[in-house]
Amino acid sequence: MSSSPRCTFAIISHPDAGKTTMTEKLLWFGGVVREAGMVKSKTGDYAKSDWMELEKQRGISITSSVMSFEYNDRALHLLDTPGHKDFSEDTYRTLTAVESVLMMIDSAKGVEAQTIKLMDVCRMRDTPIVTFMNKFDREAMDPFALLDNIESILKIQCIPMTWPVGNGVDFKGVYDFQTKQILSFKDSKDPFSPSFIDASDLNSSALVAELGVALRDKLLEELEMVETLIPGFRMDEYQAGIQTPVFFGSALKNFGVKETLDLITQIAPTPKPREAVLAPYDSSADRITIDPTDPEFTGFVFKIQANMDPKHRDRISFMRVCSGKFTRNDKIFHVRSGKEIRIATPLIFQARDREIAEEAVAGDIIGLYDTGKYQIGDTFTMGKKQIRYTGIPSFSPELFMRVTAKDPMRAKHLEKGLAQLSEEGATQLFIRRHTNEKMLGAVGALQFEVVKFRLEDEYSVEATYEPVAWAGVRWLKFPDKKSEEKFAQEYSSVIMEDKEHRLCFAVRTEWDLRLAMEKNPSIEFFKNSDYIE
Ligand code: G4P
Repeated sequence: MSSSPRCTFAIISHPDAGKTTMTEKLLWFGGVVREAGMVKSKTGDYAKSDWMELEKQRGISITSSVMSFEYNDRALHLLDTPGHKDFSEDTYRTLTAVESVLMMIDSAKGVEAQTIKLMDVCRMRDTPIVTFMNKFDREAMDPFALLDNIESILKIQCIPMTWPVGNGVDFKGVYDFQTKQILSFKDSKDPFSPSFIDASDLNSSALVAELGVALRDKLLEELEMVETLIPGFRMDEYQAGIQTPVFFGSALKNFGVKETLDLITQIAPTPKPREAVLAPYDSSADRITIDPTDPEFTGFVFKIQANMDPKHRDRISFMRVCSGKFTRNDKIFHVRSGKEIRIATPLIFQARDREIAEEAVAGDIIGLYDTGKYQIGDTFTMGKKQIRYTGIPSFSPELFMRVTAKDPMRAKHLEKGLAQLSEEGATQLFIRRHTNEKMLGAVGALQFEVVKFRLEDEYSVEATYEPVAWAGVRWLKFPDKKSEEKFAQEYSSVIMEDKEHRLCFAVRTEWDLRLAMEKNPSIEFFKNSDYIE
């Protein structure tokens, strides 16, 4: 990519609010797709950006993908997030790699269940958000009611950048508070040569002729209310996640999309400093802050995706570059394994296409071909620098399954498949200490379906899945080795190891947990694996 300032952002929405449609329009502005609505592949055929067979069957987007393009002198990386609630961990990890978010709302429905969940995740990191009220070409909620709905449920102050004039069949366009013009919906075939109605004088006869008296009066009244009731946009409040600038439009009709993207490229933050600890990782490790301008290269893996190209069955690790510069063929240091690895084919992504990245700087997302060496959360540095980025934890699962291969001859394949899928973050794999049983943990049931599907499809393993009625796990921290051994013996039936061989306590009931905590006050119990946080 060019040397333009980076803009790394994610798009979030409840399923069906229009995230896919919006993504395609954004890519169209970025020149990545030829025809809005279809994502181009190198072979010349056109296909929607669904990657996995299961996604297609269920009509849901499970995996997050990355799309890079240039627009308005910014190098953008757009990260897709799964809308389905069962993949909230994946969304959390994706949001660790971005500086800001575009939130899509279905204007006929307002805030929906998954919007609330996604917003909670944004809150954890105070991520700045731009909001797009979608589907205004159809019957929508009253704009004040919509703003109120968002403010009261999501607890974020809405600052309209535009205002809808009519809606559904009467939708005339949007009034722009800055230019005092109405962007006409009627003539919006080509968003690059928009048609405007002058609205600098709301009493002009030309405007009345254009809108009709009723709509003009309504607009006049609404704009007055906005002026008196809603404060102006403040950059610092947007950056702190307190205010969100709001646009009204229609992704499907490519209306209001350009204005939204224009603002994102103007205000979305450039790469920010990030917290790390000095490796090796333990609770007493020193925390440091790595600045994006730090000349030494660092980055971390936030996502691993298999089968992006089913023909090749490959696995790609997505790395967010946090500081310095990486040049193709550089040797980078994989902190967890202590090995230096030469990266000859770093990838950048444009919808379905991938290209070799010659270099990457802070804010960039690059793909590394992965033969199974990398894990989510892995840190890369240059010059054997021993740091580890924090903030990419595993959360306590809420659902558990015991997995065994139907054919004992396939047990090794099952082991390999489960290990790889857990490194990708599809589910979490725990090994029960005293029985060596494989226990899968998930936040949502669909995660198990993905694992089952992929074990059969990619590893040819049929397995038996038995639900286990546990309520969660706790990661444990012991004051010393002796207390660890004593505890592991006493509670052997509920002691498990996670993929990094950390000891975990399986919670049968909250009562059990409380008792164990009371009996062992020197041992700490954590709900997520990154307990250093
Ligand atoms: P998602 O990724 O958030 O799940 O939503 P997606 O973009 O797939 O959109 C969900 C449905 O809403 C699609 O219709 C899409 O065409 C429609 N849609 C998106 N934006 C707009 C808009 O601005 N106006 C209107 N009227 N509709 C919009 P579908 O019938 O479910 O799918 P399809 O047959 O169009 O593929």
